[in-house]
Amino acid sequence: MRASARLAVAAALVAAPAALFAQTRAYAPGPDNIAFPGNFEREFIRYATVDKPDRKIVRFLYVNREAFEAARPGEPLPYGSVLVMADKRARLDSAGSLLKDLDGRLITEPDYTVVAVQQKERGWGEGYGPDRRNGEWEYASFTPSGERRNVSLDGCFSCHLQARPQQDYAFQFWDYVQQRRTAPR
Ligand code: HEC
Repeated sequence: MRASARLAVAAALVAAPAALFAQTRAYAPGPDNIAFPGNFEREFIRYATVDKPDRKIVRFLYVNREAFEAARPGEPLPYGSVLVMADKRARLDSAGSLLKDLDGRLITEPDYTVVAVQQKERGWGEGYGPDRRNGEWEYASFTPSGERRNVSLDGCFSCHLQARPQQDYAFQFWDYVQQRRTAPR
């Protein structure tokens, strides 16, 4: 093989995987952009726990560590933010009333029922109309074992868009970042 031909083969070998990579990474709007963060309970940081007595659930809110550390008050949340809202059912007594612990918080059943995720990456959101687009955020809904739930995500976009456009479409995590706390030494 002549040197130039060898070079061409080498270039093709280098280019092929790169092209494949680019193809699989091309962004199209939708929940499939979000991978199930199966490690959230161990590796993410739980920044809030919200009792919802009206709905008889408790919501556990987690963020990935990188975003937890990079987020700054008054600024949009960092690229790479993965926010998780995982629900558990509240425990009821035999009469159907909510059980509370000594701190007055709801007591939960052991298992999660739903794992909702919102994730922000550079360039995401492109392709949604103004009545839907939430900046660069996507939304997804999973079962606790990581299957995609076949539910409409319209409400995720419209509610977060309506309620929190000035807080980068986030709720508790935005608020947490504005008043981040550490324990006194
Ligand atoms: C009717 C309004 C509404 C809808 C619909 C809604 N959310 Fe939310 N979302 C909220 C509120 C309010 C919070 C703050 C937690 C709370 O108080 O329940 C929240 C919090 C979150 C959080 C945690 C982020 C944070 O900063 O608190 C995630 C993740 C999330 N929602 C994802 C979703 C997904 C995914 C969907 C659709 C499957 C969805 N949400 C639908 C109102 C909504």
